Amino acid sequence: MDPGGIDYNELKRQAARAALQFVEDGVIGVGTGSTVNHFIDLLAQVKDRVQGAVSSSQASSLRLEALGIPVLDLNEVGWLDLYVDGADEANRRLELIKGGGGALTREKIVAAASRRFVCIADESKLVEELGRFPLPIEIIPMARSLITAKLQELGGRPQLRQGFVTDNGNQILDVHGLHINDPVGLEKELNNIPGVVCVGIFALRPADVLLLGTTEGVRVLSREGAA
Ligand code: A5P
Repeated sequence: MDPGGIDYNELKRQAARAALQFVEDGVIGVGTGSTVNHFIDLLAQVKDRVQGAVSSSQASSLRLEALGIPVLDLNEVGWLDLYVDGADEANRRLELIKGGGGALTREKIVAAASRRFVCIADESKLVEELGRFPLPIEIIPMARSLITAKLQELGGRPQLRQGFVTDNGNQILDVHGLHINDPVGLEKELNNIPGVVCVGIFALRPADVLLLGTTEGVRVLSREGAA
């Protein structure tokens, strides 16, 4: 419950519950974070329909397995029909900032391998322009000072996420102060810096559907032309 009296945890749960309607028999891609944790818990209730899950993090894998949902290797599964994941920010074009939990690289891989990406979030995540949330970038540690300098040239203020190592053994820079008015362009530009493993802008492959938990129920935003 926040000081304004809004129970954001309940709004996350609402969005997670709404995502269940997209689940079909077979294998499902599962993201990471507190909203997805609600989704995993709900998924356990329909697990007879779920053959297994491709997971975007060790944390989600542990939660899935604890609830009896097998975790499968993406290489064995190939394409997925559905990926469900949260976001740190979303705009109206369903472009996202992700990586607050540090799982962005695997999240981007699973999103890219999925025909439909359903994003679940509470209403506070919808923004006019991405970038108020510091942009997470997973980096190869030896390139940290090079990447820091390049990000500063672009007007960003990168901060090393202290005491954090990704599931892939890398570091995260959280970049403050970027105005992300061209998410696709900036995602491409940052992807090109040597040593960048993954940028937390999900604009080249945005969400297809955004389910927002609001105090007035779940709001559904769909991307034009999406599956
Ligand atoms: C994990 O790396 C992130 O991309 C999460 O999806 C994002 O931080 C959303 O998390 P919450 O559901 O906890 O807000």
